[in-house]
Amino acid sequence: MSQIEKSPVVELVETRGHTTGAEWLTRYSSSLMGVFGTPQRVLVRGAGCLVWDADGKEYLDLLGGIAVNAMGHAHPFVTSVISSQLATLGHVSNFFTSPTQIALAEKLLELSKAPAGSKVFFANSGTEAVEAAFKLARRNSGAGADGTGKTRTKIIALEGAFHGRTMGALALTAKEAYRAPFEPLPGGVVHIPFGDVDALVDAIDETTAAVFLEPIQGEAGVRPLPAGYLQAAREATTKAGALLILDEVQTGIGRTGKWLASEDAGIVPDAVTLAKGLGGGFPIGALLTFGPETSALLTAGQHGTTFGGNPVATAAALATLHAIESQRVLDNVRSVGERLRSKLAAVDGVTEVRGEGLLIGFDLDAEVAPAVVTAGLDAGFIINSPGPRTIRLAPPLILTAEQADSFIQALPTLLQTAKDAQ
Ligand SMILES: Cc1ncc(COP(=O)(O)O)c(C=O)c1O
Repeated sequence: MSQIEKSPVVELVETRGHTTGAEWLTRYSSSLMGVFGTPQRVLVRGAGCLVWDADGKEYLDLLGGIAVNAMGHAHPFVTSVISSQLATLGHVSNFFTSPTQIALAEKLLELSKAPAGSKVFFANSGTEAVEAAFKLARRNSGAGADGTGKTRTKIIALEGAFHGRTMGALALTAKEAYRAPFEPLPGGVVHIPFGDVDALVDAIDETTAAVFLEPIQGEAGVRPLPAGYLQAAREATTKAGALLILDEVQTGIGRTGKWLASEDAGIVPDAVTLAKGLGGGFPIGALLTFGPETSALLTAGQHGTTFGGNPVATAAALATLHAIESQRVLDNVRSVGERLRSKLAAVDGVTEVRGEGLLIGFDLDAEVAPAVVTAGLDAGFIINSPGPRTIRLAPPLILTAEQADSFIQALPTLLQTAKDAQ
């Protein structure tokens, strides 16, 4: 019997007796849109850093739903808070508010060390948080109160940037293959070379509304901005009156061993986007605006959402943040991340290791990364290849040293299997 047949959803999911992974995938391909290609496995259960597929096979989850399952799968405290909130008050419209929404906004402002007058807007995903930030940037247009006479129309993003798939976020995303089928995209966005301070300073002028940066580019293969870049960006944007908006959807909520990856840069951005790890697996996104002026750019009626800031989503996030804090998880992120990076660097065939905390990218000496992912699945490890020779790890923040070591021990065989399959 597979796990799905033991769970309460069995009444809702037509399992037709024992359904194998292959059978589920046949049903998938005839019912779901093909935008994700063929899923690698059908997963039915998780606990901590482990997940199981429909055929009962166990995996060490080193991807965590792509940096989402901060406290692992089915964390007892997080799940109990979610169910008790759901059983108390599941949803209210944004004509109303709820204590969890307010408490979460306050908590995020505290954790991000936001200055007085800072505010939060809740969304349901990363791309929606970025979309709100895009609209915020448009409001820094230099226009008069009547909306006319815009002098700032340029928005700057970086080559390699990934900010999401809705139209505004897609305009900020650099990859041509993602953009081209959907043009025309919202205008005014320019992409400049990654990590080049001179190119940034040259690009920022009095027509610039905002600069969008990921402190570490996740989808581009875990590429950190060079030291000093964020400070230079802050200086140049302040001088020109442009907003500095940091997309911490992937890097935020403890992923790098700090609440925000940008924390050590010693700057105050104008806005930060969050999502992924924030709800510990429950969908939620947030836009934080820093200081009273930026926080007043979007006024009543200029943006909204039905589900954003929902009591259950905000309770899930409060529970996740509480669990991270009370279990001193950021210490674990730093130590296990450091251990993984130093051990990875010593593996034959690994040419470069990048990242911070438990957001790690490493390059291989051959274009075999997708085959390494396949070999990993066969051996019981979930990993990801954002490029032909790059592997990304973004496991739950509670990954243990022993679990990290089990992957390091398996990696040489995975690399060899991948190379043999070429
Ligand atoms: C930096 C960054 N911004 C935005 C997004 C979009 O988030 P979502 O997939 O939740 O819409 C992602 C997703 O990978 C991301 O990494």
